[in-house]
Amino acid sequence: MVRERIEELRRQLELHNFKYYVENAPEISDFEFDAMMRELQDLERAHPEYADPNSPSVRVGSDLTAEFRTVKHRYAMLSLGNTYSLDELHEFIGRIEREAGATDYVCELKFDGTAISLTYEHGRLVRAVTRGDGVEGDDVTANVRTVRTVPLRLRGTDWPDLFEIRGEILMPYASFDRLNAEREANGEQLFANPRNAAAGTLKQQSSAVVARRGLDCTLYQLAGDELPFTSHWESLEKARQWGFKVSDAARICRSVAEIDAFIEHWDTARRRLPFPTDGVVIKVNDFAVRRQLGFTAKAPKWAVAYKFKAERAATRLDSVSFQVGRTGAITPVANLEPVLLAGTTVRRATLHNAEQMAQLDIRPGDTVYVEKGGEIIPKIIGVDLAQRPADSRPFEYITVCPECGTPLVRYEGEAKHYCPNQSGCRPQIIGRIIHFIRRKALDIEGLGEETVELLYENGLVRDVADLYDLRAEQLAPLPRLGEKSADNIIRSVERSKAVPFQRVLFGLGIRFVGETTAKYLAEHFRSLDAVMRATREELVEADEVGGRIADAIIEYFAEEDNLRIIRRLRAAGLQFEAEARRLASEALAGRSFVVSGKFTRSRDEMKELIELHGGRNLAAVSGSVDYLVAGDKMGPAKLKKAEKLGVRIISEEEFIAMIEGGGPVEKAAQQELF
Ligand code: IVH
Repeated sequence: MVRERIEELRRQLELHNFKYYVENAPEISDFEFDAMMRELQDLERAHPEYADPNSPSVRVGSDLTAEFRTVKHRYAMLSLGNTYSLDELHEFIGRIEREAGATDYVCELKFDGTAISLTYEHGRLVRAVTRGDGVEGDDVTANVRTVRTVPLRLRGTDWPDLFEIRGEILMPYASFDRLNAEREANGEQLFANPRNAAAGTLKQQSSAVVARRGLDCTLYQLAGDELPFTSHWESLEKARQWGFKVSDAARICRSVAEIDAFIEHWDTARRRLPFPTDGVVIKVNDFAVRRQLGFTAKAPKWAVAYKFKAERAATRLDSVSFQVGRTGAITPVANLEPVLLAGTTVRRATLHNAEQMAQLDIRPGDTVYVEKGGEIIPKIIGVDLAQRPADSRPFEYITVCPECGTPLVRYEGEAKHYCPNQSGCRPQIIGRIIHFIRRKALDIEGLGEETVELLYENGLVRDVADLYDLRAEQLAPLPRLGEKSADNIIRSVERSKAVPFQRVLFGLGIRFVGETTAKYLAEHFRSLDAVMRATREELVEADEVGGRIADAIIEYFAEEDNLRIIRRLRAAGLQFEAEARRLASEALAGRSFVVSGKFTRSRDEMKELIELHGGRNLAAVSGSVDYLVAGDKMGPAKLKKAEKLGVRIISEEEFIAMIEGGGPVEKAAQQELF
């Protein structure tokens, strides 16, 4: 029964995933889709015995810590020769035609992401490996399974039993902008361009994080021992039928003139694409001709990349201003003489930090070169020294906060300067309140940036706790507000008291504690008190929490101002504890467990299973522990202690069997231990 339902949900979700993400033609609403996904996830959580690595639920990702095994490519992943010059491209075509005669080409976009090779066995995705050095790469299967446009099971039946397909993992501009905005709000380092963001995301430890980053995957090359095709075009069409996302931009070109026209078209049309491209790849279509041409040591002789020139422009740097973020981080910004670049007028460019500015020796009054790195964030790539004014002097970076005058500080290992005056620096105060009311945090509607500024100017809010003391009569007389808006704000402040703990934790705005980290912390510690009490060692026990985050958390709770705010928020009735979980079964009721070592699931997942089935997690081995679930590389001291105290020691498999069997089975072999 359960099994059939799981299978049916998987079939449905897969179909609708394909219709939505690959065909762009959804047939059901997001709401229906989410409801089915939730049902599947609940069933799978309660029934780990029916796990399937290709279930559509893996697209949501898991917290399992990925270890990126290095694997050898069955077929080397070569690179492509490339050129920025049409003349060179024409010579390349000339050489091919002298050797093999006139032939057809397939022109494709050159996608600007990170290369991936997917292996399918019997129509199922079994492995996804990065390019690495071309000979071996990292196994990133768990992460790639979350990419909605990568089929987990193929459509149709006429695929080879074993083959690889290669393409590009891309981060669309929309995902990139969202990700960087989030990182900015959290005081985290920004990704320079979507390519770095895509590559960085594939190497994330948690596939749940990958799942949320909105990656895409376009495929453009098959590899296998006996592929049933005679041309590249044919292979692309088949790949499309099997459910892969294959670009619609590809064209067969029969002459140099047609290739040139393709390039000319996309050199401008690519600006309207939702993902980054950096050129055109020209490939011989006919496999027999490809075989005849062969390879050089590094690249095929039957394909070449023509790269678009990154657009750059020269303009004058009028002045440098400094932005103060909510965490106090200072970002220097270049104010430029407006210049047209890649279709938009650029007035400002980021200068990142003091070091970058010193490296380029940028000075106001200079003529600078601006480039759109990956077409998004304009950046200054150099200075035209010939045009430097004679009286120019090296730029002196600011030493005090431009907003509050406090001397700036630098933290070890960080390139940015910070204003340490958290409680007295206007943009930091306002920034923290704005962060707190964000949709992903306390979701206080009716309060935008302007209103927060208004409340601040009128002395009504100085910190987030003040929001809970607001009264409608104070708000209504303020400009642009009125009674209705005032009531709205008060109601939505009131509603925020029910927002779950993980979002409250995120809303506090602890440095480096983004939405995901807050979720992991909440899951691991279950209450704010527990987070506050945790030592550095205990903090890094939670998934995704490293030393840097742990230090920031400890620093945050060491601040008296923060503690005072927390006390007031607690008194106002905000959620400082995670909601109790609904039990999946009572299989482990009344039993207590210690989990230790490495498992196929993350430790937090193991602990969650214990609680989900009514068991209790204990931190250390003692006489009151019933079971020690022992994983790989568990410390010998713990094992010894457990043996001494008569705590039963079980493996991960035995533990899962215990849940499936509906409760502990006292096996004879286990009894022998005592
Ligand atoms: S074909 C043997 N087609 O460019 C040639 N590559 O510079 C296999 N790339 O590693 C590659 N778009 O990551 C091919 N339409 C496309 C491409 C493409 C982007 C990337 C790919 C490759 C790199 C070579």
